[in-house]
Amino acid sequence: MDQAQNLRNIIKKDNIKPVSKARVITVTSGKGGVGKSSISINLAITFARRGKKVIILDADFGLANIEVMLGIRPQYSLADLMFRGKSLTDIICEGPEGVGFISGGSGIQEMLDLTQDQLLNLTRRLSELDDRADIVIIDTGAGISESVMEFVMLSEEILLVATPEPTSITDAYALLKTFGRKPDYMRVNSKVELIANRVSNAEDGMELYQKLSSVSEKFLDISLKYMGAIPFDKNISKAVMQQKPIAQSYPNSPAYAAIEDIADRVLGDKVFDLSRQRKGLAELFMEVFRRAVKKSEE
Ligand SMILES: Nc1ncnc2c1ncn2[C@@H]1O[C@H](COP(=O)(O)OP(=O)(O)OP(=O)(O)O)[C@@H](O)[C@H]1O
Ligand SMILES: [Mg+2]
Repeated sequence: MDQAQNLRNIIKKDNIKPVSKARVITVTSGKGGVGKSSISINLAITFARRGKKVIILDADFGLANIEVMLGIRPQYSLADLMFRGKSLTDIICEGPEGVGFISGGSGIQEMLDLTQDQLLNLTRRLSELDDRADIVIIDTGAGISESVMEFVMLSEEILLVATPEPTSITDAYALLKTFGRKPDYMRVNSKVELIANRVSNAEDGMELYQKLSSVSEKFLDISLKYMGAIPFDKNISKAVMQQKPIAQSYPNSPAYAAIEDIADRVLGDKVFDLSRQRKGLAELFMEVFRRAVKKSEE
């Protein structure tokens, strides 16, 4: 029996079916340092204020940004759940306003080395997370590794962050090109939503969107949805220094007003409203595994 078949049997046999599925939103960018982590945490707090149960999964292995931004030091990470028997409750840190936070640690890199038992265990645990969270935000870091890239590509909802700087635009395009080249990029099921960050005015953001969407539609057959722009606002960097997200430290700032609008636009999207139509987190992990197995067999 091939490994992929094995995986399918595992899922069938144990009937790992979450009752409900979390809406998974993956925040990514071409170039690093464009505001992904700031946006992730402030969107998360806003969703929580709208009554959603939110968990941030930090797949940013660089400087562990969100930890620093929130001033929390998680004791355990996803890797401890996978390899060292920790429970979901052990690895979820309590963030501001009830937002949960999970550090990816080396988990996502290492997950392709899991044994069948560990895999079964991981999937079961992630199904619990699907039941517990309405929304899971995956914050990806700069210099995305191959395995994080798989997550991004297989995600149903991708929030692409770019700034008006020419390098950010070309790097965002390069990332989209990578999706476009993969034969199994979920062209039908995925959608890519653009956030223009650090703009000087609304026109700036719209111009960035138009540039990117026209080339990606024309050359890659990927259509982008515009989620809005966030102005350059020094309160964001101040908030980072103070380790208190602007949603809390500067709720009346222009940047937070823009993030709030974007959050409401995300929540207003009816396509992702019905949980049974979604993939959820456990299924997303399974797909990444399946693809890895398939690749290793090629
Ligand atoms: N709208 C904004 N106005 C002013 N400064 C901003 C804005 N958005 C982000 N920044 C600043 O840019 C820097 C990078 O932001 P952040 O860490 O959120 O980016 P990132 O994309 O997560 O970075 P990395 O790729 O390293 O993970 C931070 O110092 C942050 O304060
Ligand atoms: Mg970051």
